[in-house]
Amino acid sequence: MKGKSLISINDYSKDEMLRILDIAEGFEKQPRQPILSDKVVSTLFFEPSTRTRLSFESAANHLGARVIGFTDAASSSTKKGESLKDTILTVACYSDIIIMRHPLAGSARWASEVSSVPVINAGDGANQHPTQCLLDLYSIRKTQGKLDKLNIAFVGDLKYGRTVHSLTIAMCNFDTTFHLISPDELKLPSYVKQHIKDKSLEYHQYRTIEEAIDKVDILYMTRVQRERFADPIEYESVKNSYILTKNQLKGCKENLKVLHPLPRVNEISENVDNTPQAYYFQQAQNGVYVRQALLATILGATK
Ligand code: CP
Repeated sequence: MKGKSLISINDYSKDEMLRILDIAEGFEKQPRQPILSDKVVSTLFFEPSTRTRLSFESAANHLGARVIGFTDAASSSTKKGESLKDTILTVACYSDIIIMRHPLAGSARWASEVSSVPVINAGDGANQHPTQCLLDLYSIRKTQGKLDKLNIAFVGDLKYGRTVHSLTIAMCNFDTTFHLISPDELKLPSYVKQHIKDKSLEYHQYRTIEEAIDKVDILYMTRVQRERFADPIEYESVKNSYILTKNQLKGCKENLKVLHPLPRVNEISENVDNTPQAYYFQQAQNGVYVRQALLATILGATK
């Protein structure tokens, strides 16, 4: 993993994913370790972000690294017409690692192919979000005590939700049963379903949360990704398909946890926030430890 880009969750084997989770546990116990004090981390965000960017910056700060970058492509020379290639070639001269979010699927892979320093994909269009995936795995293992023999429900925008694509592929390394809850227009892409089939795992598709709530250990809610719709009328027709309320959690398994990569819009009522099932803000906190583990590992500061 040292010196290598992380673009897709497929870039890591099951053992490598588990190793990152184990290292993250160490950072959760002792977050402030200035082991990257000679490193510069750059964050290039061509799309908005709160958690991914700030938790990476928090992780870098805990490790003693310096952070440079931009939060809006309009404030960079992209606005003047500079290509992504030239931006990456330049930023690689200024930093030891590049963390990039971009609206175009495949852009992170392209960046890693031209960059002389490792690139971490912080989300490329509707494609992949591997660091979110690792913090999701961490949150699942932490709350369930295991990653095998779990029932996981994905709810909402399974078509454009890149976190769903990455996490489904990662959970295929474990003995998982998938429960896919979405409107017909937002079903999981067939290439991801094929991945489940190739691993001889089961998936079930539903239209409502009620059909699956008593079966699952993890209820993974997602936002309908307005920015990916070409047709705003289509977005309007599905945007409030699921709004999880406290009442809907009646009859759930005792160990159930509700996850959400956030930001939420309407998908989870605020009356869920104080239930024992709500775990989405702790999930966001876990992102710091996992991103510390990634920075330390890729920059060669772990044993
Ligand atoms: N989960 C996630 O990617 O959140 P942000 O868009 O705020 O980074």
